[in-house]
Amino acid sequence: MSAATLLTNIGELTTNVAVDADPCGTVHDAAVLMEGDRIVWVGSADEAHRRVAGSVEVVDAGGRAVIPGFVDSHTHLVFGGDRADEFEARMAGVPYAAGGIRRTVAATRAASDDELRRRLAGLVAELHAQGTTTFEVKTGYGLTVADEARLARLAAEVTPEVTFLGAHVVPAEYEDRREDYVDLVCAEMLLACAAHSRWVDVFCERGAFTAAESRRILAAGIAHGLQPRVHGNQLGHGEGVQVAVALGAASVDHCTFLDDDDVAALAASGTVATLLPGVEFSTRQPYPDARRLIEAGVTVALASDCNPGSSFTSSMPLMIALAVREMGMTTAEAVWSATAGGARALRRDDVGVLAPGSRADLVLLDAPTRTHLAYRPGVPLIRTVWRRGRAAA
Ligand code: NIG
Ligand code: FE
Repeated sequence: MSAATLLTNIGELTTNVAVDADPCGTVHDAAVLMEGDRIVWVGSADEAHRRVAGSVEVVDAGGRAVIPGFVDSHTHLVFGGDRADEFEARMAGVPYAAGGIRRTVAATRAASDDELRRRLAGLVAELHAQGTTTFEVKTGYGLTVADEARLARLAAEVTPEVTFLGAHVVPAEYEDRREDYVDLVCAEMLLACAAHSRWVDVFCERGAFTAAESRRILAAGIAHGLQPRVHGNQLGHGEGVQVAVALGAASVDHCTFLDDDDVAALAASGTVATLLPGVEFSTRQPYPDARRLIEAGVTVALASDCNPGSSFTSSMPLMIALAVREMGMTTAEAVWSATAGGARALRRDDVGVLAPGSRADLVLLDAPTRTHLAYRPGVPLIRTVWRRGRAAA
């Protein structure tokens, strides 16, 4: 029999298996049995003793809270360089400009595979330590065929959720012939990256790619077997949400500037609105209105957008705290969006939920309830993380 662990005496268990009005499927005085990389049983701590047979390791949660591992559905973790100077300037009043992306492109192109791999490994360790057990990684700081392909390859070493983002910005060398760059993205670059990628993404925004260019690039990706997702409505109102919904994208990310038609289109679609409050924190933009989306019936995910320009944090607990403090979410909604919501944005049903058959990815908090994630911002509340049934040392 593969290794089994019974985690018992859980004061508050967030299962995300919806019960009546509680989408978090909260169970008090609970226990979870893991076997191999899966959860095999969830129930009350009182019943748990009947499950202890043979070589089951028993872990006492001491009345603390347990939640599913965070699902961070939007990151840009493969890059070189540092843009702390831009952050300092923004805090002194300089507005965020997506043009800074080109600085990271230059630093990334200059870095060796090993340098990028080391940096990536450090960031992945940072995510894991903060309770993230599933994460997506985008390319987008290479912007040549060879560089995008190596970023996709390096990303695929750490996650199956790789997104091809050759359409991040038009690189400097194509400044005066952007159609040629779109052609390149849709042909050679896509061909070089598709084998390592599951998703195709476009930064559909003024200063990046137009709606028409975005549609073309996403359609090319779909034709190569990739599924679409979109960066949209980040810096101002634009067509990103409408492009995403029309193509049946899994998610449209940022969603900071939305009109009523965007909200209605999202509500009537299967596209998740992924909100990235680390960006608003770090760029001093207004936060997106999560309450408006939730009231309209839109599925909302929270993600870190970890990248060196607009949001250099990998902390999902910080996203929860910001969503509750600044975006009108309840703590239950924010925790759901950072776990089950992220899973929906990645079209995964094996993570973000604690139920028999789901992956044994869970987090024991150093707190009696999940509310403490927002109530005690900045405090390291991640006590133990199980990934695929194994506790991190
Ligand atoms: O998601 N919006 C586009 N891309 C990133 C920012 C990248 C950067 O500034 O380096 C984002 O915010
Ligand atoms: Fe992003």
